[in-house]
Amino acid sequence: MVVGNSGVVRSAAPGKVILLGEHAVVYGRTALAASIDRHVEVSVAAAASTYLKEAQPTVPLPVLERAAELTGLDPASITASAVADLPAGVGLGSSAALSVALIRALARFAGQSLPDAVVCARAFEIEKIFHGFPSGIDNTVATYGGLIAFRRDHRVKPLASARSIQLVIAFGRAPRETQKTVRGLRERWESSPALYESLFDEIDRLVNEAQNAITTGDLPMLGALMNANHRLLQRLGISTEKLDELVALGRDAGALGAKLTGGGGGGAVICLCDADRERLVGRFTRAGWCAFATDIARRGIDGADNAGRFEQRSLA
Ligand code: MEV
Repeated sequence: MVVGNSGVVRSAAPGKVILLGEHAVVYGRTALAASIDRHVEVSVAAAASTYLKEAQPTVPLPVLERAAELTGLDPASITASAVADLPAGVGLGSSAALSVALIRALARFAGQSLPDAVVCARAFEIEKIFHGFPSGIDNTVATYGGLIAFRRDHRVKPLASARSIQLVIAFGRAPRETQKTVRGLRERWESSPALYESLFDEIDRLVNEAQNAITTGDLPMLGALMNANHRLLQRLGISTEKLDELVALGRDAGALGAKLTGGGGGGAVICLCDADRERLVGRFTRAGWCAFATDIARRGIDGADNAGRFEQRSLA
């Protein structure tokens, strides 16, 4: 068992958006994802420290226990807290960001220096506690940052975008339910495998075209492909009336494309914008939704360790 240091150790990791390919990625297809400029920061200290216990919400106990075990620390000897400017439970990768930040903070607390591949693998173990059978895309983006094409055999291809990809993210109060939507889709796939495999293939084709659109800077094409992906997610049974409403509002307000992002069944939509994101944010908030503009990384991989990059902001 490793004996940890006595001060407070912090680490932050970014949230993510899936531009195209969620759910199909669970079935071996490629998805495109990027880190966003919103983070979860985890602080770790010796259990005797009252500062963390009193000041901030704690990290869920089973998560802390598993992460401590992976680090070789006694869970009873530590306390961990998290703060975030990344909304939780809307499909923006907050659990993966927390997992990565926790793994890095614990490693530093224990005096270990971990290669990114080990951080990513350990965070994947934590993600299983949150999500059951994740593809690994969220912890990969949270570990490495940047803009990537991902396949669940852990093939990660960094992408470089010819133009900046500007997004508005909008969401309501209904949390996304990744475990539920992933499980529901699995049941439908088991009863009609050919139908669902063909839908996943169609998504995979869109993803391939979107990679070209990103590398050539063809944003109208990227927007059209996002719209087509949303239609396929509807056919997979992943969208909801509220998400469709958000997507329609985004397109009506001038987005080049809009789709749900992440697990679906609630959660967030992303809108691709070419200008005036604040106007679009205003349209959403006036209609009673939460929304914020975000920049995604322009090229992968944008830097491994996000310690010290966290900047506290109010949640949208
Ligand atoms: C969750 O961010 C994305 C899903 O494809 C699930 C996964 O890949 O683990 C819905």
